[in-house]
Amino acid sequence: MTITEAGTTESWPDKPPTGKAPRLGEPLPEALRDTAERMSREEIRALQLERLQHTLRHAYTNVPLYRRKFDEAGVRPEDCRTLADIARFPFTTKADLRDTYPFGMFAVPQSEVRRVHASSGTTGRPTVVGYTERDLSNWADLIARSLRAAGARPGDKLHNAYGYGLFTGGLGAHYGAERAGCTVIPASGGMTARQVQLIQDFEPAVIMVTPSYLLTLLDEFERQGVDPRSTSLRVGVFGAEPWTEEMRREIEERMDIHAVDIYGLSEVMGPGVAQECVETKDGLHVWEDHFLPEVVDPVTDEALPDGAPGELVFTSLTKEALPVIRYRTRDLTRLLPGTARPGMRRMEKITGRCDDMIILRGVNLFPSQIEEIVLQTPALAPHFQVRLSRRGRMDHLTVRVEARHDASAPARESAAAAVTKRVKDVIGVSVAVDVVDPDTLERSVGKIRRVIDARDKD
Ligand code: DLL
Repeated sequence: MTITEAGTTESWPDKPPTGKAPRLGEPLPEALRDTAERMSREEIRALQLERLQHTLRHAYTNVPLYRRKFDEAGVRPEDCRTLADIARFPFTTKADLRDTYPFGMFAVPQSEVRRVHASSGTTGRPTVVGYTERDLSNWADLIARSLRAAGARPGDKLHNAYGYGLFTGGLGAHYGAERAGCTVIPASGGMTARQVQLIQDFEPAVIMVTPSYLLTLLDEFERQGVDPRSTSLRVGVFGAEPWTEEMRREIEERMDIHAVDIYGLSEVMGPGVAQECVETKDGLHVWEDHFLPEVVDPVTDEALPDGAPGELVFTSLTKEALPVIRYRTRDLTRLLPGTARPGMRRMEKITGRCDDMIILRGVNLFPSQIEEIVLQTPALAPHFQVRLSRRGRMDHLTVRVEARHDASAPARESAAAAVTKRVKDVIGVSVAVDVVDPDTLERSVGKIRRVIDARDKD
């Protein structure tokens, strides 16, 4: 289905009593779905096998690193006869991309590469990714598909506050939104006061931004004395970092919009690998016509059955410039059957990354668990940091969290006690909680850093 066909006949469903958002449970009309979104599970699997076999051949023939790894593992592309055979092939990691920096894993001549992006990487060299013309077109198609699933429609104005530049968020969302027939407002990140002004003046229906930066924008609305529920926004498409169901409730309530999740990573493409459908809000459908997901045990590397939690692994099925075979994302989730798109599986909202897991006195915990607990505590704002320190030989964790503006001193005190108790009851470890004044913690303009590890400094 071409994009121009999409949506020309579509108008918004009846408005719900609360105002501007589409009605929940209203499925995306057939006419607005891509062919793959209408396929059965069997059809998708057949398409995946054909594309997987092609991708394995492409990677083996054109990327020396894959040829070496396949040879070492004693597998050849022709050994892949069923989808399950993927488990016979070696994994790819970020280290492989770093070792071949910058372009060593590209599978096409540089003259065929139309664009590169790079992920910043907190340590070491960045990882560089590349796209052919067709890769860029597929990417735009998938973001357009994601946006329709999120509830955007052709003709909508879309405020794009993902950062433009080497990060895949800004430009990825930009071209996809154009492909979806939206009017893009390329705001990028930063200049928060101006963003709020632009939203009021240009009246977008859709916003794309990291959830943490959205919180910064929300505070700015309030600072300017504007009710964030009164804007033209209907839908927010949030991703690039983990966020919880509690955060969804907070955002939806404070802004009167639908908040849906978009997932992706540069190495696999960028945003638009998986998308939550607004009518179900039950996790993200992986666009399985382009990506084959697996979940593996992060420690033993063993492939796990659907439903079991573990590390998400992707094999690209259509990428030309940078095919990835069994790429270890380090993201933790599980695979579930499709709902709004029955042919494609869902992934549960990401709980965190293997790298973000804090092991505190033998207990594993993720910042997302802290987020859940903070947001369940009425006197607390959704701004928090987790600080690790060492006293003697013991590791300590302090949650620094802002009070809401209207919280009284006794309410703050009992909130601190309540969080300490919930963390102890739910996660099983003692932490200190420091409730600080509103507007004192650092704000995000993109991806937020939740954990401050000061253990080596103490
Ligand atoms: O963050 C791509 C992106 C941009 C996705 C905009 C969504 C929206 P990277 O910078 O390569 O790419 O970072 C990828 O971010 O492995 C996850 O750990 C995290 N991440 C991305 N989306 C989500 C999400 C972009 N929806 C890394 N939920 C991934 C949780 C996410 N984590």
